[in-house]
Amino acid sequence: MLTELPTEIQTYISSIQKNNSGYEHLTTTPGFIESESLVRNTVIAFYMGKNILLKGPTGSGKTRLAETLSAIYKQPMHSINCSIDLDAESLLGFKTIKQIDGQSQIEFVEGPVIKAMKNGHTLYIDEINMARPETLPILNGVLDYRKTITNPFTSEVVKAHPNFRVVAAINEGYVGTTPLNEALKNRFVIFHVAYLTGEQLKQVIKEQTNLENAEVIEYMVKLADEIIKETKRGKISEEAASTRALLDACDLAVYLSPLTAIRHAIAEKLEDEREKNFVINLAETYFKE
Ligand SMILES: Nc1ncnc2c1ncn2[C@@H]1O[C@H](COP(=O)(O)OP(=O)(O)OP(=O)(O)O)[C@@H](O)[C@H]1O
Ligand SMILES: [Mg+2]
Repeated sequence: MLTELPTEIQTYISSIQKNNSGYEHLTTTPGFIESESLVRNTVIAFYMGKNILLKGPTGSGKTRLAETLSAIYKQPMHSINCSIDLDAESLLGFKTIKQIDGQSQIEFVEGPVIKAMKNGHTLYIDEINMARPETLPILNGVLDYRKTITNPFTSEVVKAHPNFRVVAAINEGYVGTTPLNEALKNRFVIFHVAYLTGEQLKQVIKEQTNLENAEVIEYMVKLADEIIKETKRGKISEEAASTRALLDACDLAVYLSPLTAIRHAIAEKLEDEREKNFVINLAETYFKE
C-alpha cells in the first residue's frame, strides 16, 4: 500500500499528466516533456531529498530535466562540470586577496557546492564519471545523511539548508569516463533518460524549434523512431538518435532541404562512413532532395 503524496507534489504531477502544461511558474520554459513517468518519479525523489543520478546518452535531456526539477522548487541551480582537472577548489571555492580600505584582506570565494548547500539551492554535477576518482569522495558527507562538509580551506563546518538538492548526470560508455566509485554511486537513486520518440518528440519539436511544416515534422519523428530502432539492433551508434541533434535538424530544415539538414545535424556526427550513409539512406525514404 503506497502512502499518498503530499498535495503540493500531487498538484504538480497531475498538471504534467493532464496536458504537459503547468510549467507557468518555472524559470526555464518550455518544461520537460513527460516520458515513461520520468518526471513524476524524479520529482518525487527530488521532493524527498534523494540525490538523483541521471544516466543517459548525449542529448537525451538530462540537463533539461535537472533544470526542470530545480525550477519546480523555485531554486537556482549551480553546475559543476567534471573533468580530469576538477579539484577541491573548483567544488568548494578558493581564497583570494581583496583590498578593503587600502588594506589587503584574505577572502574566501565560495564555490558551487558551498553556495548550493548554504542557500538551499540545487547542485548539478555534470559528467560525474569524468572526474578523477580521488576528487569526489570529498563530497561523501554532503551526499549522505550528514549533509555536512568541513571546508578544508576555511575549517568552517557547513551544514546544508533543508532545500539543498543534488542531481548528477552520467553519460555511460563515453571515452574518458571511468566506472563510478561504488560508495559514490550508492549515495544516489538512479534514473535512465532515453531519447524521446513519437508524440513526445513531436511536442518537443513544436515547442523548441522553428519548424512549422507539419509534414516535415511528421517525417522527422518517423525518421527518429526508425533510427532508434536501428540503434537498438546495433546497426548504428546510439548518439545518432540524439534528441538534440534532431532538434538541430528541424531548425535547419526551416531554410534548408530536410535531407541537407539531416546530413549536417545528424549524419556528419557519426564517425563511421557506413553509419553516415545508413542515416542518409533512411532519410531518403522520407525526403526527396
Ligand atoms: N523530455 C524532454 N523534454 C523537453 N526537452 C527535451 C526533452 N528531452 C530532450 N529535450 C531537449 O533536447 C536537447 C538536449 O537536452 P540536454 O541538453 O538536456 O541533454 P543532455 O542529456 O544533458 O546531453 P549531454 O549529455 O550531451 O549534456 C535540449 O534542447 C532539450 O531541451
Ligand atoms: Mg547535459
